Amino acid sequence: MAFPILTPQEAAELIHNGDNVGLSGFTASGSPKVVTQALADKALKEHEEGRPFKVNIFTGASTNNWADGALARANAIDRRTPYQNTPDLRKRINSHDAHYFDLHLSELAQKFRYGTYGDLDIAIIEVAEVMDNGEVVLGTGVGNVPTYAKLAKKVILELNAKLPKGIYGMHDIYLPLDPPNRREIPIYKPSDRIGSPTVKIDPEKIAGVVHSDSYDGIKGFTELDDVTLQIGANVCGFLIGEMRAGRLPKSFLPIQSGVGNVANAVLFGLGDSKEIPQFEMYTEVIQDAVIELMKMGKCKFGSTCSLTLSDKMEEELFSNIDFFRDKLIIRPAELSNSPEVIRRLGVIAMNTALEADIFGNINSTHVVGTRMMNGIGGSGDFTRNGYLSIFSCPSITKGGLISNIVPMASHIDHTEHSVDVIITDQGVADLRGLDPVQRAERIIENCAHPMYRPLLMEYLKLGQSGQTPHTLEASLAFHTAFKATGDMRNVDWSKYGF
Ligand code: COA
Repeated sequence: MAFPILTPQEAAELIHNGDNVGLSGFTASGSPKVVTQALADKALKEHEEGRPFKVNIFTGASTNNWADGALARANAIDRRTPYQNTPDLRKRINSHDAHYFDLHLSELAQKFRYGTYGDLDIAIIEVAEVMDNGEVVLGTGVGNVPTYAKLAKKVILELNAKLPKGIYGMHDIYLPLDPPNRREIPIYKPSDRIGSPTVKIDPEKIAGVVHSDSYDGIKGFTELDDVTLQIGANVCGFLIGEMRAGRLPKSFLPIQSGVGNVANAVLFGLGDSKEIPQFEMYTEVIQDAVIELMKMGKCKFGSTCSLTLSDKMEEELFSNIDFFRDKLIIRPAELSNSPEVIRRLGVIAMNTALEADIFGNINSTHVVGTRMMNGIGGSGDFTRNGYLSIFSCPSITKGGLISNIVPMASHIDHTEHSVDVIITDQGVADLRGLDPVQRAERIIENCAHPMYRPLLMEYLKLGQSGQTPHTLEASLAFHTAFKATGDMRNVDWSKYGF
């Protein structure tokens, strides 16, 4: 090999306090596994010896326990974007130890290329293969690698022995020109390939190669329960109705499906439904459920930014890679999440809400309005630009202490203007063409849990005036009741003079 072999510790020595560091991958898939862990150990040592040591971490999306997890435990992250989901980093963010700015995933690469966040000092990139001319084959997630590889002053490669040679050909690497020179991104159907199977890195910048040997470390999903199964069934029922009414072509439209347990249940529902035809996906993550749908022949093709698979499923895919090679494309985030392409293809966007308000606004990110959960991820890219934008969530959480339908969302990521349909285990609220009061009535009747419907109706009736009849002083009464008593049902309108 033309490049020096480094230990993880030697590689970590190349990274300095205050550096801007770009990581490969998207979710845990394709994220570095050993250099970040060594970097966290270095940070701990520096802290013990009384020296400051923090770096700024730029990624494609969330990472893994060896990157965000280890670095957060070592309190080694200063700035962080665009998405995260590890408990340790979440704690650092909510205690202000780490400065996280939550960003639409499609935007980061271009902003970096314009210099918004300064220079990129180093990139750590997981690869399946490295050639002497600096060309590399990536792993299960691309994220923002093409941009980080181009901008970084130095590159460290993590050569992961678990990645099979047969992964060559699954990636579609393409760097769009920046405005004012941008042309259209020429993807006209999910399976169009427009770029190269490899990333070309200037060999002069490759500081060394570190060996690693592990799957992405993703756990399987929790078993589907009655509530999530019902949500999946309701989503399918709605889509079938749209097809019968001619508002969705019989050949269907490409699907984007978000992350998490609810999203997994929705995919399961699609597989189970006889009337949903074979479909394609234009999405940012492909979870275990999609691989099952491909094996069944239900999902014909998937364009994604990552294969976010449990270790078991990853192993299975790698051992049958020839079956999947012509059914999957892994692209950079600015292509998988491109507003232009999403709008052109007419994607059906299906994402999960933490809470929805009765007027159709969605909170995807902040628990009770203040604590960051994960981030907006790609939900905004898809919701704002999809042909049909659906949000689903359970009607209640924590056994009914929390209603996921509230008078006013305590934080808003997706506004009423972008949200077409809300679906819970209770039913479907199709909001298209409705004014705010009509939307509220439909959401309360169709989506709220029966135990919360009277309270929500009372709130709606309190509102005296305006097109959106909020009563501002009472609009967060559900949340304040929860904070005071641990149960949103203890809301007391008399406190507000009603
Ligand atoms: N208030 C407070 N807590 C709530 C809540 C609410 N309204 N709704 C859910 N929660 C809690 C749950 O109780 C659970 O807590 P626990 O871990 O203590 O059990 C946790 O939030 C996650 O809920 P769950 O129902 O398991 O959700 P999920 O795994 O389906 O994830 C999101 C839901 C919203 C967190 C997740 O989809 C997300 O991060 N979305 C934003 C990014 C995104 O949409 N990307 C899309 C493109 S891939």
